[in-house]
Amino acid sequence: MTPMRRIPALDTAVSALGYGCMGISWAYVSPADRDDEAGVAIIREALDSGVTFFDTADAYADGHNERVVGRALAESGASPVVATKAGFVGNIVDGKIVMTRNGRPEHIRAACDASLQRLGLEVIDLYYLHRVDPEVPLEESWGAYADLAAAGKIRAAGLSEVSVEQADAAHAIHPVAAIQSEFSLWARDAAGGGQNQDGADVGDVVSWTKDHDAIFVPFSPLGRGFLTGRVSVGDLKAGDFRTQLGRWQSDAVQANQAIVEGVRRVADRHSVTPAAIALAWVLAQGEHIIPIPGTTKSANLQANLQALTVTLTNDDLAELDGLPPAVGGRY
Ligand SMILES: NC(=O)c1ccc[n+]([C@@H]2O[C@H](COP(=O)([O-])OP(=O)(O)OC[C@H]3O[C@@H](n4cnc5c(N)ncnc54)[C@H](OP(=O)(O)O)[C@@H]3O)[C@@H](O)[C@H]2O)c1
Repeated sequence: MTPMRRIPALDTAVSALGYGCMGISWAYVSPADRDDEAGVAIIREALDSGVTFFDTADAYADGHNERVVGRALAESGASPVVATKAGFVGNIVDGKIVMTRNGRPEHIRAACDASLQRLGLEVIDLYYLHRVDPEVPLEESWGAYADLAAAGKIRAAGLSEVSVEQADAAHAIHPVAAIQSEFSLWARDAAGGGQNQDGADVGDVVSWTKDHDAIFVPFSPLGRGFLTGRVSVGDLKAGDFRTQLGRWQSDAVQANQAIVEGVRRVADRHSVTPAAIALAWVLAQGEHIIPIPGTTKSANLQANLQALTVTLTNDDLAELDGLPPAVGGRY
């Protein structure tokens, strides 16, 4: 049986390992290479494998990702917990991904209706503010989420890449059910001492969620594939989002091999892949943590699910905790 974890705000439990749908449509795949059939198939395989927590966003290829999720839900007849997001708009400009923020309440209200339609749902289980918009007071953006909950369009609301200070401000207006931030063996900022995408100190968001009966949802828990030891920077195609990130520039990649080697040492002891160990470490950081690794490949999906069979020893955890910090920025 798939190990489960609770989402208190929804009064339900989901598979301890969720599935992130982004890579089917965005960031690591060019518009020309998008394959809807394969996307539906991998989501359905995840469902068949016991995954009941799916993550998407309207920003992932201008609704394409939500449409693929909607198709997979309709064709499978399954009703997993579905999370989506608003407040970030993605564009491709001169072959590069450019994200802009829009936290205006009218944008969020319209985005919610559009997401419901694309997903084929009457209510969104978990609706995140994808990023805080510096041009719009958080109270206004988050107030729109409170209104959507009151209108029965969303069950619960979450934040992404926020600081403890922002979480407190939002929580005073409407309960924060979840915080989704990057978190993995090479991106531990959300556990304290780190910075968000805007360079602001975030504080210990992982503990904040635990203390407020919320879940913490690590995005990119495999370090966008780096921690698997199987993504080579030389193989990334033009337009792959990773080519834009500090941590993926060749000098940083070389320096960060020490992290992958450490993960591989632990993986060899457990006879599993480094991917499974990277995910097992994230899962071991708290029972309120539900990571959402993404993959477009069946073999990788199954390798990731192996994380649920791994019990890391105290020595393993100490070894992984002691890995060197990553060289290069997350963004
Ligand atoms: N809130 C936010 O701002 C935000 C930002 C980024 C992501 N997210 C969410 O988080 C989810 C996951 O993050 P992510 O996709 O960026 O990163 P990730 O899950 O850390 O890594 C995905 C990458 O790893 C590769 N991969 C996955 N499993 C593998 C395995 N077992 N062996 C080798 N390679 C493997 C995938 O390639 P293959 O397809 O070839 O397997 C893909 O390139 C996204 O889908 C999205 O829902 C949210």
